[in-house]
Amino acid sequence: MKILVLNGSPKKKSDTFRLTDAFLKGLNKDGKHDVTIIDVIDKNIAPCRGCFGCWQQLDGHCMIQDDQNAILDLYRDSDIIIWSFPLYVYGMPSHLKALLDRTIPLVQMKMVQMPDGTVRHEPLADFSRIHTLVISGCGFPDWEGNFDGLKIQCKNSFGNLDMVCVPETPLLNVPHAAPFADPLLERFTKAGEEYEASLTLSPETIAELERPMIPAEDYIRNVNRSL
Ligand SMILES: Cc1cc2nc3c(=O)[nH]c(=O)nc-3n(C[C@H](O)[C@H](O)[C@H](O)COP(=O)(O)O)c2cc1C
Repeated sequence: MKILVLNGSPKKKSDTFRLTDAFLKGLNKDGKHDVTIIDVIDKNIAPCRGCFGCWQQLDGHCMIQDDQNAILDLYRDSDIIIWSFPLYVYGMPSHLKALLDRTIPLVQMKMVQMPDGTVRHEPLADFSRIHTLVISGCGFPDWEGNFDGLKIQCKNSFGNLDMVCVPETPLLNVPHAAPFADPLLERFTKAGEEYEASLTLSPETIAELERPMIPAEDYIRNVNRSL
């Protein structure tokens, strides 16, 4: 399978990417898949200009000549796309959102009413083969609503979607938190194996991956103590 990983953390030592890396170890444990990792922050991806030139030429490319067209080629050719990024102000980081906005050339103007009542643009080709996994880390402890905006955006944007939203991810780069972080990384590797076998994750597995490493009160106390 062709796996495209869009790493949306701007940091060299991404908390979230540690999880994604552990997941990939399970997903590609036999090394038989073709994995491409893109550090999106290093790419030249301008914001969408809203010209809709892509809907005139309908060739799956954007009018802006920068790094996005090569990403669109990889995107439409993938079997699995993993979006790995930190939660920024309840959504995805702006450089990654620019990439998402500029996937518009993969659909056309024609609108379709779906059985669930939503309205979509018709895809340029049959992309139903593509499975999407979102792995997002965040700095807060677990609280109802932190990921709500992101979840709605992803549900409306992607087909065959699984999402894993992980609280307290800065702990992943704190050496003395390893006793809490390492078991989570092991769960991500196991989840990668599950995903390879079924191209989805069970609700039980997602709950295990999203389980806070330490209680919220301890996390908040430790963060505030370091100030
Ligand atoms: C601009 C900015 C906005 C952020 N917004 C949120 C937020 O809305 N909710 C949250 O829980 N954490 C937020 N965080 C914290 C990051 O999600 C957190 O530090 C994460 O672990 C960073 O992951 P990375 O190392 O993979 O980049 C924000 C951080 C930054 C820099």
